[in-house]
Order: sequence, then C-alpha cells, then structure tokens
Amino acid sequence: MDAPYNFLMESLTITQPDDWHLHLRDGEALKAVLPHTARQFARAIAMPNLQPPVRNVADAAAYRDRILDALPKGITFEPLMTLYLTDNTGPKDIIAAKESGFVKAVKYYHAGATTNSDSGVTDIRKCDSVFEAMESVDLPLLLHGEVTDRRVDIFDREKVFIERYLVNLRSRFPQLRIVMEHATTSDTIEFVLSADNTAATITPQHLLLNRTSIFQGGLHPHLYCLPILKRETHREALLEAATSGNPKFFLGTDSAPHARNRKESFCGCAGCYSALHAIELYAEAFESVNALDKLEAFASFYGADFYQLPRNTDTITLTKQPWIIPKELPFPDSPLVPLRAGEELDWKVTEARA
Ligand code: NCD
Ligand code: ZN
Repeated sequence: MDAPYNFLMESLTITQPDDWHLHLRDGEALKAVLPHTARQFARAIAMPNLQPPVRNVADAAAYRDRILDALPKGITFEPLMTLYLTDNTGPKDIIAAKESGFVKAVKYYHAGATTNSDSGVTDIRKCDSVFEAMESVDLPLLLHGEVTDRRVDIFDREKVFIERYLVNLRSRFPQLRIVMEHATTSDTIEFVLSADNTAATITPQHLLLNRTSIFQGGLHPHLYCLPILKRETHREALLEAATSGNPKFFLGTDSAPHARNRKESFCGCAGCYSALHAIELYAEAFESVNALDKLEAFASFYGADFYQLPRNTDTITLTKQPWIIPKELPFPDSPLVPLRAGEELDWKVTEARA
C-alpha cells in the first residue's frame, strides 16, 4: 500500500513506526528519554548495554518492568528485549530467551567496541554453541560489527569485521537471522545484499551526515558515535539502500543519550541522541532524494516483517512545519544535547499517539 500524501498541505500519514535499535538506559535517564521514543514509536528493540548488562531472561524481565514503569500514564509502548552476549552465555540462556516470548534477539559486542561493552565477547569462535542454539530456535543475532584491533583504522573497523568474522559466521550458520546494526559503509550494504537471512538497520545520523561534519568549522562532539560517521560515498550508499524499497534495510535510530558533560569532555562518550525527532530526521533524509514514498515501509513494515511481528495499525502524521530542535533537554546531572541541536527541521510530527 502506498503511503497517503497530501501534497497541498504537505503532510504525510504513515503507519506507526518501530525503532529496531535503541538505547533507553535506566533509572532517571530512562525516565527522561522514554517519552520521546514512545511518542513516535509503537515498539523498540531495547539494547542491553546497561551496567551491568542484561545477560539473561531474569535481567531482561526486570529491565522490561522498569521500562514499563517509566512510561508516562496513558501511553502504550512495547519494549522488545535483548540479551547481551558474553563469554559466559550458554545455549540454555538462548532457549530460555526464546521461551520467554519477550526477548526478541541477542546482541553481540566485541569486548571494548563501544560504550559499556567491557563484558562483550573476547573471542567470537567461543560462541559456536550459542549461535547453534540461536539458529535452531530462530532467535536473531544483532551485531555491533566493528573489530576492536587497535591496528585497524577506526574508519575501516566495520569493513574488517565483515572480512575477518562475518563472512565466516554467515557461512557456518546459514539459517541464523543476522542484523548488521547501524550499517555505515557501502561494504556492509553490499554484504547484506549478497547474503540470505541478513538485514541491516540504518541510523538518521549516518543518512544525513558524513565524517567531515564532525570537523566542520571545529570539533563537534555531539556528532561522535560508533560506528563513526564515514565519508560521503558511504552516506550515499546508505541513503540509496534505505530508500530502495528493499526489505533488508530498516529503521534503527541507535539513539544513545549521554549527558552533555560526558560528551563535551576530555575523553567524550560515543552516541548521538535522536529519539526526540527521529522520524522527522529520517523524513528529511528521504525527502533529499525524493523518496518520501519509501519512508513508511522502511520505518514501519520491514523491521516488523524481519522480526516476524505484526505490523502496527495506528498511524502518525508528519507535517511540513519548520521548527527549531531544542539546544538541550532535561537529563540527570547535566543536560542532554539532541542531534543537530539548535538547527531547523522541516518536518514535524503533528499527530501521534496521545
Ligand atoms: C552506543 C551507546 O552509547 O550505548 N553508542 C554509540 O555511539 N552508538 C553504543 C553503541 O551502539 O555502539
Ligand atoms: Zn547502539
């Protein structure tokens, strides 16, 4: 079904989207950010990189309850839980996860790859029994696909991950459903296109910005995320994939809040905050290549189909109504600076769930 447009009013009504890659954090931070996501999205894959991480079904059940408790009254939102793969995860954890019904995937981080990934896997070859179990119960594997080898240039870490690990993993577990999270390179797009049972999420920052943006007129710590923004040719490849209508590519914001003082610091944290205005940012990216007609399926259909979940039935409406992204948002200890803070956005969600 084509999304209904009203070109005179310049509004766009689409099926309620879902966010297939989101960092919700915990405690007061969770309370600060969750309403933003729940206003736009019906469901989200909640990343497990808390401290300590979400390692088993009991942790996931408790985190799910904390998320539901943090929801503003009257708002419905379904957190889809993930487990954090560690050196100690076993096949029993996988079977229990599948049986829980609310754990939808397992997340793989190479130890030390990104924020709160110290408990990540130290050697992917030790995970065979876990991948076998995931393949047999059909639980998707979500990859932070970057090597951590210091000898590999930061801009090459995704490509090298594919060559060193993913090609092998893909061929040894052909039925395992794999998502390359936050794809940032044409290499990943090509790999995903060539491989069965393989999909990728794409963030708004990687569709809108390139690595030059980080240094344009000075250093922009709020554009530092992992995987790091890449050169313009990669951004173009991502935009082409996202707007191609291929169901292998779907929305995952990787919205990753860090307080301002942790970003603007001697050694700043990785992560961009986009939950406030995610769908508007994607609309801008899609409009830049005249592909607004492809937004609904990317945002609202293909992810649900991949995860074998029903598509949403509610709708949201975006209107062409320029507004300024706030310079900062309330957050514990120090404010939160959203992606492209202080800049103008053309699209605005004007009708969403109450
Ligand atoms: C994420 C975070 O802050 O949790 N940061 C990021 O830059 N994307 C972790 C991650 O997904 O890599
Ligand atoms: Zn992430």
